[in-house]
Amino acid sequence: MEKTIIFILFILNFLPFSLKAEEGMWPPVFLSQRIGEMQKMGLKMTAEEIYSINNSSLKDAIVQFGSGCTGVLVSEKGLILTNHHCGFGSIQKQSRMEHDYLTNGFWAGSMEEELPNPGLTVTFLVRMEDVSIKVMEGVTASMTELDRAAVIKKNIEKIEKGASQGAGFEAKVKPFYYGNQYFLCINEVFKDVRLVGAPPSNIGSFGGDTDNWAWPRHTGDFSIFRIYASKDNKPADYSKENVPYKPKKYLSVSMKGVEKGDFTMIFGFPGTTKEYLTSYGVDLIAFKENPVKVSFRQQRLDIMKNAMASDRRTRMQYASKHAGIANGWKKMMGESKGIERLGTVGRKHEEEKGFAEWANADQARAIKYGALFNAAEKTYKRLYPYDLAGIFVTEGFQGIELLKFASGFKDIIKLSSQKDAKESDLVKNAEKLRSATLTFFKDYQQSLDRKVALALLTMISNKMSQEFKPDFFKEIEKKQHGKWAGFVDRLFATSVFADSSKLIQILSEPGAKSLRKLAKDPAYLLIASSAIMMDKTISPVMLECNRTIDSLQRIYIEGLMHYENGRLLYPDANSTMRIACGKVDDYSPEDAVNYRYFTTVAGILQKENPDIYDYVVDPKLKNLILSRDFGEYVDKDGTMHVAFTASNHTTGGNSGSPVLDGNGSLIGLNFDRNWEGTMSDLQYDPDQCRNIILDIRYCLFIIDRFAGAQRLVNEMKLVND
Ligand code: ARG
Ligand code: ASP
Repeated sequence: MEKTIIFILFILNFLPFSLKAEEGMWPPVFLSQRIGEMQKMGLKMTAEEIYSINNSSLKDAIVQFGSGCTGVLVSEKGLILTNHHCGFGSIQKQSRMEHDYLTNGFWAGSMEEELPNPGLTVTFLVRMEDVSIKVMEGVTASMTELDRAAVIKKNIEKIEKGASQGAGFEAKVKPFYYGNQYFLCINEVFKDVRLVGAPPSNIGSFGGDTDNWAWPRHTGDFSIFRIYASKDNKPADYSKENVPYKPKKYLSVSMKGVEKGDFTMIFGFPGTTKEYLTSYGVDLIAFKENPVKVSFRQQRLDIMKNAMASDRRTRMQYASKHAGIANGWKKMMGESKGIERLGTVGRKHEEEKGFAEWANADQARAIKYGALFNAAEKTYKRLYPYDLAGIFVTEGFQGIELLKFASGFKDIIKLSSQKDAKESDLVKNAEKLRSATLTFFKDYQQSLDRKVALALLTMISNKMSQEFKPDFFKEIEKKQHGKWAGFVDRLFATSVFADSSKLIQILSEPGAKSLRKLAKDPAYLLIASSAIMMDKTISPVMLECNRTIDSLQRIYIEGLMHYENGRLLYPDANSTMRIACGKVDDYSPEDAVNYRYFTTVAGILQKENPDIYDYVVDPKLKNLILSRDFGEYVDKDGTMHVAFTASNHTTGGNSGSPVLDGNGSLIGLNFDRNWEGTMSDLQYDPDQCRNIILDIRYCLFIIDRFAGAQRLVNEMKLVND
């Protein structure tokens, strides 16, 4: 008897793509098919209340924040909440040695004090529409992939042009299921987004990169912005005359707190997932790409960390860069580990065998799908060395700040060599580069970059396949006999790109002659040589292979839909709006270990360590905790909760996403995933994958009790049910 049950469980685990209720990030236009399941899970709203193109609905309170995060409206005056790590770049740009908002926090005392952030946008989804038929117009079965792509591209351009609704709106057609379906998204983009509040880093990034991608977590990862609009409530460039945006919808904030098993719904703009990749694709990412990327990043991070620890200015300049590099580095390690633990490659291989058997049992199917996996295997084999070489360029050469910076001068150098180049074009280009130069040097430490250059060039020299080494690099290599220190010294001593005043001088009087000199600069020569290798040798093969893989994936997914008997599969994330449902849940990462689903402020004091930057506790926060000054934000169990875990399927881009209860009230802000679940972009495991959410009451507590910014809490609508 027991054996039978174990056998059935085993089989269930192996059933192809056996989706669990929590798995998937669903486009809101799929709601009508999903709503029953969601209501069974605990949702108490109708599909129309969540997504409607005629009436205001929940979706009108959700924005894409910048290009990589999500935010949520919480007041009728355009106030938005997102994560601290999403506002990080903006907060850093506003920071100076004399007013370091990143370290010390920032709280605008009134609307007049709210700070504009040039370049920062928030985007609303106005509506989505299935345009697959129009996109496929003229596509025939006998077409080559290239012709097919050309027809589709043209159709998309036509649709986007035709759908354009004027200033402030954008129309974008996006492929779903690797191009089995296409949706048109009409967006409204606001450009005057001001910084309203941010906790100090020792709250907003508490635990830093040490705790990143891990649970238990005690990070107050939020920041506050406000959307400003023209007097008629339309998107407008920054102007003093702009007024707070009046949203169609904003969320109520729940004071109730959560319990294990409670329904959770996440609305947001997840970036990329690859859940339907073949075994060969997963193998490439998890076991070939990730380890190489990790080893390059490890070198940079070690050097940065040392420099940051010994100098406050360096810490301020490199905090954001370090966090970005470390974030990917740690994620990749966790992902590979998770994929190995789940045995995803072997498991997918088995699934593929089943699929191939099914395909080959029918002649028509065999023609369509029979050769899929052989073709995939062959293509990935061809791709691998080129893909690897590409990583040496992007993580290696471009990981050296000086070189990356020099690569930005490609256009002006080209322009300066053209006989008929217009003086005005040169001047315009130089002006742009002048401001890029100032920005670059504001956050640059040459001594640090030198160390990075030495480490990365040595690594490239030792590990990059000879056939892909850029010509200029090989020349130096020959002269240096494997010793790079001398070259690095000379590079930094002679390159104009390492000398801000010389460079600014050239850009201030941008004559073609002085600009042509830049083309012979060693930093430029090196990065340009790697770009040539990339453009001429690496990219063409990568492009060709990836195109083949994309078309194989398209056919595979289409086949899976039939294989799965018409079951609705969720499309991979593609930075469009998605909804993911789950429940508040704990998890057990290993035998005998069980992680509770919420953390409290007690953990902040337990982690406190004045000697470790990531664990310095803000003295004011410590006082509030010790005096239990939690106000009405305390949980009914008497403790102050900080974060909790749930089983929603999320990915990068979901940061700052509102987490809603069954009534659509805000219970938290999503900000991360757990270590054991970092492989969820390739395979979601309902047992281990948890998203990490800031309890909204901790956010309110910090705004109100810590920062004394009651004016912001007063704008929100707090509810108790
Ligand atoms: N891991 C989270 C996400 O992928 C948070 C990243 C920011 N935090 C950090 N310590 N780097 O983006
Ligand atoms: N921290 C991620 C973000 O910034 C979210 C995740 O990957 O889970 O979007």
